[in-house]
Amino acid sequence: MTRPDRSVGGTVVSGANADQWTESDPWTVLRLILWSADYLSQKGVESGRLDAEHLLAHVVGVGRLQLYLDFERPLTFGELDAFRPLLKRRAAREPLQYIIGHQPFRNLELKVAPGVLIPRPETEQLVERVLEWIRAASIDAPTILDVGTGTGAIALSLATEASAIVTATDVSDAALGIARENRDAAGLGDLVAFHTGSLFEAVPRDADFDVIVSNPPYIPEVDEPTLEPEVRDWEPRHALFAGADGLDVIRGLVEGAARHLRSGGLLALEVGSGQARTVVSLLEAEAGYAAVRIERDHEGIERFVLAHGATNYDGASAQPAPSTGDV
Ligand SMILES: C[S@@+](CC[C@H](N)C(=O)[O-])C[C@H]1O[C@@H](n2cnc3c(N)ncnc32)[C@H](O)[C@@H]1O
Repeated sequence: MTRPDRSVGGTVVSGANADQWTESDPWTVLRLILWSADYLSQKGVESGRLDAEHLLAHVVGVGRLQLYLDFERPLTFGELDAFRPLLKRRAAREPLQYIIGHQPFRNLELKVAPGVLIPRPETEQLVERVLEWIRAASIDAPTILDVGTGTGAIALSLATEASAIVTATDVSDAALGIARENRDAAGLGDLVAFHTGSLFEAVPRDADFDVIVSNPPYIPEVDEPTLEPEVRDWEPRHALFAGADGLDVIRGLVEGAARHLRSGGLLALEVGSGQARTVVSLLEAEAGYAAVRIERDHEGIERFVLAHGATNYDGASAQPAPSTGDV
């Protein structure tokens, strides 16, 4: 972690190294941010300045923008000691969110940790599509199944914003442990139940839902070398990859969802870039779906595939969704 001499805020920092900060170095908030931003960018972190600010705000216990009012404040040795290991973790390309332990998602501040996928902004838009449909359909307390819930981001948002009664599944007990913590922190124990299982395994055969939603793993295994280290080396593989073409889990969703979708209900899937048209073909080839369509995310990428439960499909049962007790 040694680096050449440089000037920071008019002060020469000689051979600055996160292990060599000494009492003689007057480390102010701004000086540390600038030094750390430079250090992180040398380690290939594109958002070095922003991440340095987030890490320091986390250590100091203030909002990031509060640091701007305190630029000239000298940091205590306790603060420097707490900051140093976090900076090293980020330099090793560990995601910022795993280091500070949380990630905003719509109205929620979700706990995240290694073992669970960090929720992404485009998934907030998937939730928005589902909310629009619920509003248009004027359904009070809709029943929703979220397959591959991870932190519970989708499930908990829909429970909060639409008073939905949500069943959520995941293959990962580690993810579900964090999802339960997020649910309990949000006080949503009455609305959201989590179950371990692949796809629809943990869902009673005769249960049906107004909405089935999923942001499944969809990255083709061949794309692994193209991923940023933060994703490739830190996020759980089972949350990222789904076979050679990335569609293994989506195929299972398409095959099984119709049985659990109410007539006229909504199936809402997030898919990878370039996959949407194939997913439409899969849905059109399967009995039980109608009005299949693609929607784009804010970047203009075909990101969401929406379909409805077919009215003439007899695979779905008219039984109510299961109660919300955890299994
Ligand atoms: C892309 S992550 C999405 C997590 C969360 N829904 C979100 O949007 O942030 C996919 C999730 O699906 C889970 N998963 C993978 N294969 C699964 C399967 N066959 N059945 C259920 N969940 C699965 C993973 O453990 C992971 O939590």
